[in-house]
Amino acid sequence: MTHDSSGAASAQITAHRQQYSALANKQYFNYGGQGPLSEPALETIVAAYRKTQAIGPFSVAVNSWVMKVRQDLRVAMAQELGCDADAISLTEDVTMGCNIPLWGQDWQAGDHILMSDCEHPGIIATVEELQRRFGLEVSICPLMATLNEGNPAAIIGEHLRPNTRLVVISHILWNTGQVLPLKAIMETCQSFQGNQPVRVLVDAAQSVGVLPLDLTDSGVDYYAFTGHKWWCGPEGVGGLYVRPGIRDELAPTFIGWRGILYGDRGQPTGWQPNGQRYEVATSAYPLYAGLQRAMEFQNEWGDAQARYDRLLALSAQLWQGLQNIPDITCLRHEAPESGLVSFQLTGGAKQNKHPQLVKFLEDQQMYVRLIMDPNCVRACVHYLSLEHEVEQLVGAIAEFCAS
Ligand SMILES: Cc1ncc(COP(=O)(O)O)c(C=O)c1O
Repeated sequence: MTHDSSGAASAQITAHRQQYSALANKQYFNYGGQGPLSEPALETIVAAYRKTQAIGPFSVAVNSWVMKVRQDLRVAMAQELGCDADAISLTEDVTMGCNIPLWGQDWQAGDHILMSDCEHPGIIATVEELQRRFGLEVSICPLMATLNEGNPAAIIGEHLRPNTRLVVISHILWNTGQVLPLKAIMETCQSFQGNQPVRVLVDAAQSVGVLPLDLTDSGVDYYAFTGHKWWCGPEGVGGLYVRPGIRDELAPTFIGWRGILYGDRGQPTGWQPNGQRYEVATSAYPLYAGLQRAMEFQNEWGDAQARYDRLLALSAQLWQGLQNIPDITCLRHEAPESGLVSFQLTGGAKQNKHPQLVKFLEDQQMYVRLIMDPNCVRACVHYLSLEHEVEQLVGAIAEFCAS
């Protein structure tokens, strides 16, 4: 399907959106928190639960269906991420996907982790606990300040140490919306001459479902993502990409029957040869089918590039509209490269009244969120957003500023 700004394209997106009940009664700008679930995805989940009851719940038939559902989802994820399905492990969420490589390294006291200053609190807490338990060095790399100028890859390079083993960054910074240059960062880390190779863990909470991706080409080591944000799947299903060439150096930490090989008496004999080694045990499999349908439904509207192009047009519209409000300062000085548009109330009577603005908007069924660091408000647009919704949001923010 091709998409342009014609009436036909606008009718298509309107029809597509009708399949998302959450979008019917509000103006939704919190895709970075959680995406809405489409009716086809919801129906698939319900049908899968019914099927499980009809042919099981525990039976040979259910077990073979479950194996197929798991593999189909890995294949669908791999297609979107530009990698082999064998490189994918199914998880519950981004945080679990980050915990697997964080805990799975053979840490030695004195090893160094370099983490950006824009990571999510759950990831920071994990790194701090690793530091405490294993006697690691942790330092923070100032990437927030590169939103409008500077070279994030070069800054990471300047902060690497001979004992650095892991760099922890996000592909798209959840607070400012900045897209980090993943390939350049990988090149910097791979060419660094330290005591041991520098691996890179990427939190992909805000990039998967936003940008077209080619993980194999990027050279990234670990890439942790979720289905419930920009892919608009159900909460509770995510994934982890582990670069196949380094799989054997990452030991499973959370261990269960899904990740192991079996001997003739059913005893564990080793790890699964692929990403399944990091999967643990029983999961809510109907949700896997639901996420796959959610992704397929997005692709029925347009491929990753078409969705990203529309998202960029909408975030440019929002950014431009906010630029025109005198009391608002957008964090970014040019149109964003992601769907996250962060801004501050910097002038007038409403200066810094960010919580009040979030509440004012939510009272009118317009959903945005507060960010603590930097202190700002974040509005997200997806390809699902509508031009007139963006216009109304800008109008409501201008009204708040003037009130
Ligand atoms: C950058 C980032 N990392 C991690 C998370 C947590 O995601 P999950 O609940 O899927 O672990 C979020 C959620 O907002 C996020 O934005």
